[in-house]
Amino acid sequence: MAATILITGATGLVGFRILLAALAAGHNVRYTVRNDPQTVSSNPAVKSLAPSDRLSAVVIPDFTAEGAFDPALDGVTHIIHAGSPVPVPTYDPSPQVYEPTVKIASNLLASALKTPSLQRVVITSSYVVNLGLPVPPTAATYDITPAVPSAATRVPLPSPFPEVFSGVLEAYILAKMVELDNSDKLIQTRSPHFTIAHVIPGYIFGRNEPALDAGMMQAQNSSNNFLMMGMVGGELPFPIHGGFVHLDDVADIHMRVAFPPEPAEAADGIADFGVATPVDYATIFDIVERAFPKAVAAGVFKRGKVPTLSVEYASNVRELLGRELKSFESAVVDVAGQYLEKLGMEKA
Ligand SMILES: NC(=O)c1ccc[n+]([C@@H]2O[C@H](COP(=O)([O-])OP(=O)(O)OC[C@H]3O[C@@H](n4cnc5c(N)ncnc54)[C@H](OP(=O)(O)O)[C@@H]3O)[C@@H](O)[C@H]2O)c1
Repeated sequence: MAATILITGATGLVGFRILLAALAAGHNVRYTVRNDPQTVSSNPAVKSLAPSDRLSAVVIPDFTAEGAFDPALDGVTHIIHAGSPVPVPTYDPSPQVYEPTVKIASNLLASALKTPSLQRVVITSSYVVNLGLPVPPTAATYDITPAVPSAATRVPLPSPFPEVFSGVLEAYILAKMVELDNSDKLIQTRSPHFTIAHVIPGYIFGRNEPALDAGMMQAQNSSNNFLMMGMVGGELPFPIHGGFVHLDDVADIHMRVAFPPEPAEAADGIADFGVATPVDYATIFDIVERAFPKAVAAGVFKRGKVPTLSVEYASNVRELLGRELKSFESAVVDVAGQYLEKLGMEKA
């Protein structure tokens, strides 16, 4: 029987790219949206795959409403859950980051338990779950675990748990940690009839098809916003984690985790899959300069400043992927190239 995958987050950087990978692999794909489903189905990258009736949408205005996913899961065999907020600095930490992250995932799993056809759930997490909070404020590094963190690392939740978050990053990290903890507990206590795995990536960069024009590339581009700052002369006032993975690899990893070879665990026996390669964001403009010298000479690209917070992480996806990971350089070139394309400029 053909797989039917429910994908959340298909309007975003990660979910959209996964949707393309799922369609390209020949699966039936159902995606959930809060608003107009055509933002996905009318995207040229989707149209070029001519999915016809293999693609359908379910509109769920509020993913946090009780039972919100029940009608979307009928007959679904796999779920890929990438529909969750990222820590946008202007967001209100609790209602726009923490609460929806935790509630959407628990809603989805509650509906999943009622879906007999379901075989596997893949949840997009973030490697901050394995790193924990960069606290106490006196700590200079992330050196809070006994070994280099990996997908197997479980950082204890803070006790007492904060009633108010210091900002969006704290809300995001704690929300992702709580979501992982809830999933672990559900596996232990409810013995679900399906398996659950997390894909745990570092910062994700790559060509983002939902960004339809040059303005969207700088403002509505998820983590790519940071890359754009580094290449158009922006200055980020805070450092971001220096662990990276290419968007194409993230999509590929999600598909391989959803449809795993036997056995379903990574070679190291871990059920979750983490990936983050060290990166120094000071190289962004150098890469652009090498790849697009004419656009640099024309002043389209300018050196920006994106400070890096160095992080060590032990990835465990190499065997699953069966190939080398794509380089940071290729992600920067892909994003800069898309920007030139949207400006109507030649890439040469
Ligand atoms: N980008 C990265 O570097 C990165 C790194 C590690 C992990 N991740 C994880 O990957 C996932 C997707 O991130 P992304 O980069 O694709 O972010 P994105 O481009 O901002 O997309 C987020 C997606 O989640 C949906 N969403 C956000 N808040 C929601 C809410 N309250 N209710 C319902 N849907 C909501 C958005 O739908 P709307 O269009 O309706 O807003 C959109 O489809 C997240 O779980 C994130 O933590 C991302």
